[in-house]
Amino acid sequence: MVKTVGIGITGGIASYKIADLVSKLKKDDLDVIVMMTEGASKFITPLTLKTLSGREVVTDLWTESLEWKVQHIGVAEQLDLLVIAPATANFIAKMAHGLADDLLSTVVVANTAPVLVVPSMNTNMYNNPIVQDNINTLVNYGYHFMDPDSGVLACGVSGKGRLPEIADIYQQIIALLSPNNDLFGKRIMINAGTTCEDIDPVRFISNRGTGKMGFALAREAAQRGADVILVSGPSPLSAPPNVKHVSVWSAQEMCEIMLKYQSACDVIIGAAAVGDFRIANVAEQKMKKTEDKSRKLTLELVENPDILKELGKRKQDNLIMVGFAAETENVLENARKKLVSKNLDLIVANDVTMEGAGFATDTNIVTLINRAGELVALPKMSKDMVAAAIIDRVVELM
Ligand code: C5P
Repeated sequence: MVKTVGIGITGGIASYKIADLVSKLKKDDLDVIVMMTEGASKFITPLTLKTLSGREVVTDLWTESLEWKVQHIGVAEQLDLLVIAPATANFIAKMAHGLADDLLSTVVVANTAPVLVVPSMNTNMYNNPIVQDNINTLVNYGYHFMDPDSGVLACGVSGKGRLPEIADIYQQIIALLSPNNDLFGKRIMINAGTTCEDIDPVRFISNRGTGKMGFALAREAAQRGADVILVSGPSPLSAPPNVKHVSVWSAQEMCEIMLKYQSACDVIIGAAAVGDFRIANVAEQKMKKTEDKSRKLTLELVENPDILKELGKRKQDNLIMVGFAAETENVLENARKKLVSKNLDLIVANDVTMEGAGFATDTNIVTLINRAGELVALPKMSKDMVAAAIIDRVVELM
C-alpha cells in the first residue's frame, strides 16, 4: 500500500532545500502532502512544492479545500508519517505547547502518526535552554528528532544549526515508514573507510577506502534498531544519524578503540580498509628536500595489527564477527581462509577487479560465506542493498 508522508515546512531559510526532499520521496512512489506555514511561503513558493508533490499544497486554515471537507482533519487522517522540516524555534515551541493557530500546527495536534522533527536555526537559538526544554518535552511525548549539522549558517555564524543533508533526512523518513526493529537492543560495532599512517608531521600513507560500504552498514543497522558504534578513519561521508561515530587516524588507534568496546558488543563488522603497514620511525620534523636530486629515500615499514584477528582471538561466545575479503584472485578460497584465521562467523568476499565492485563505487558484487562453508552469491547491487543483505544474514546468525 502506498504510504503518505506529510511534509510540514516552517519559515526557515533552509526551507528551499525541502523541494529536493519532496522530489526524492516522489521518486520512491510515496504520496506526499506538503503543508506550509505563512513564513515558509516567504522562502519558497507553494507552486514549486505543488508541482513536485503533484498534490494541492495546504497553507491556510481558512481556505476551502477541493480535496478535504475539513482540511486539517482530512490531512491528518491520511498521514503515515508527519515530518516538520525545517522546524523553527517558534514552531517547536508551538508544538510543545499544543498550540493550533494555523493550518500546520492544527494538523500536528490532530495527527496520530509518528512525527519527525528536523530543527534548523541559528546556533544560539538552538542552544537556548527554552528551545532545548521544548525539544525535550516533545521527545518525551515520543516525537523523533534529528540533530542539526554544524557548519557556516546563513546568518554568517558558524556552529550547530544547519539542516542535516537531505539524503540523511530521506533515510530517516524511510526508516520510520518501515520500522523493522530486528536489531533492537543489540550493539553493533562497525569499522569503515581507510586508515592513515604518518611519515612525518605533514605527510602520511593511506589507501583507497572511502567508507561507503561501512557507512551503509551503520545506517542499515541503526535503522533496524541497533545501537551502532561506527569507528572510521578519515572519510568524505557524514556519519548516519543515530550512530555513535568515533573518528580515528591510524590502524593502531582503530584497533585500540575496537578492543575497548569489544566486550560490550553483540556484533562486530570489519568493513574498513585497514592499512597493513605503518612507518617504522615517524620523523619528528617535516622531512626536507635537498639539492641532491639523486638521493634515494627509503621508508621502513612494519606490520600493523590485524584488527579482526586481534578481536577474533578475544572473541566471547555470543559475539558475531563479520569480515570482508577484497580479493583479486582465488576469491572464495582466500575468503574461506580468512574466515578461519580471523575466527569470523561470516565473510563477505568480493573480487575487486570486477566492474561495479570494490572501493569507490556505489555498487558491489559480493558472496557471503558462513562457517559451514555455505555460499550466497549476490548479484551486482547498491552498497545500501548489500548492507541490508549482510545485516539480514547477521540477524539469522543471532
Ligand atoms: O587480511 P585482509 O586484509 O585481506 O582481511 C580483510 C578483512 O580484515 C577486512 O574485514 C578488514 O577490515 C580486516 N582487517 C583488519 N586489520 C588489518 C587488515 C584487515 O581488521 N590490519
